[in-house]
Amino acid sequence: MLKVTQQPDVISFGGGLPAPELFPTREIAECTAEVMEEYGAAALQYGVTEGIPEMRTWVADRLSRRLNTIFDPTEILIVNGSQQGLDLIGKVFLDPGDHVVLENPSYLGAIQAFDAYQARYLTVETDEDGIVPESLERVLEHADHFPKFLYLVPNFQNPTGRTLSAERRVAIVEICERFGLPIVEDDPYGELRFEGDDLPSLVSLAKTDTVIYSGTGSKILAPGLRIAWLAIPDHEIREKIALSKQGTDLQTGSLAQYVFHRYANKRHAFEAHVDRIVETYAHRRDVMVEALERTMPAGVSFNRPKGGMFLWATVEGVDTTELLKRSAEQKVVFVPGVSFYPGRDIHDGMRLNFSNASEDKIQEGILRLAAAVREFK
Ligand SMILES: Cc1ncc(COP(=O)(O)O)c(C=O)c1O
Repeated sequence: MLKVTQQPDVISFGGGLPAPELFPTREIAECTAEVMEEYGAAALQYGVTEGIPEMRTWVADRLSRRLNTIFDPTEILIVNGSQQGLDLIGKVFLDPGDHVVLENPSYLGAIQAFDAYQARYLTVETDEDGIVPESLERVLEHADHFPKFLYLVPNFQNPTGRTLSAERRVAIVEICERFGLPIVEDDPYGELRFEGDDLPSLVSLAKTDTVIYSGTGSKILAPGLRIAWLAIPDHEIREKIALSKQGTDLQTGSLAQYVFHRYANKRHAFEAHVDRIVETYAHRRDVMVEALERTMPAGVSFNRPKGGMFLWATVEGVDTTELLKRSAEQKVVFVPGVSFYPGRDIHDGMRLNFSNASEDKIQEGILRLAAAVREFK
């Protein structure tokens, strides 16, 4: 697929890339100059593993405001992308053969991170409102090998764009606390909400320290900075994860942390930037949904996520890996859904990214995709 997407006339709904034209490149250049002026060598020196104090404080303040629960800067660990956070969690929690509970389908990068520690998976029934609590309860009751944690993306999930409903959040936290199952709440898309109100985070609903919350600057600023964070209320787990990070890369890059912090601290500019992303992606989502409604034949269904970067479509009776071969000839690509199912057993889904293509490209790409689908119908 990579080879195909590199051709200039191919329209890709396949990647999970933010819109590069929205990156505040000039402002980041200015922030870099300001950081060098103010901090000089300190911004180029080694720093503490947990992250520079300014970033940890900024994250703690922002999460305390957004998630409606108080975080202390000492609970925050700055990581090299939330992908590193997932790897460190795998490293600390998992021995070969250990089980992890996942949504079905689930984020592929998490499966890859946990695969490296030879994890096995228990999947929970999932619908348009996210994980079904009764199914989670059944899975935990019948597990011979009790799992190490539940991993989930509650807001505008990758790959489906689905959001876990408010009632289910309460139920899932209650079940996990009752069974003593830690939760990894991965939330890269929570700030990219196009409509409706924020729903309570799982970490704010928990009565105990069982939830690790993961956030990132990748979708609200730029993934190239590799600045992300874990909020880990449990002291012992936090120490273990910090120690693992020390063994992995000593620390997240000092310069990137200072630059991120400098930009994020220009509060007005930063909030306006996030608003611009939300507005642009919301519009692109609308364009994609309208194009799908207009062009797709019967048997194709799709959702209309209230935020994030992806929507999920199913093509009844069609193996979307085969469809991809045909659509690549029409010069449009997507990710076949099978890759996101740990059991690799469901073949009719596809993930469509709407953040990275212009409106014209979205219109044209969906037209081509519909032509490819019609060849199967
Ligand atoms: C659910 C989820 N978690 C984590 C990541 C990794 O993001 P980061 O750039 O912070 O490593 C992504 C990226 O697409 C994602 O979709």
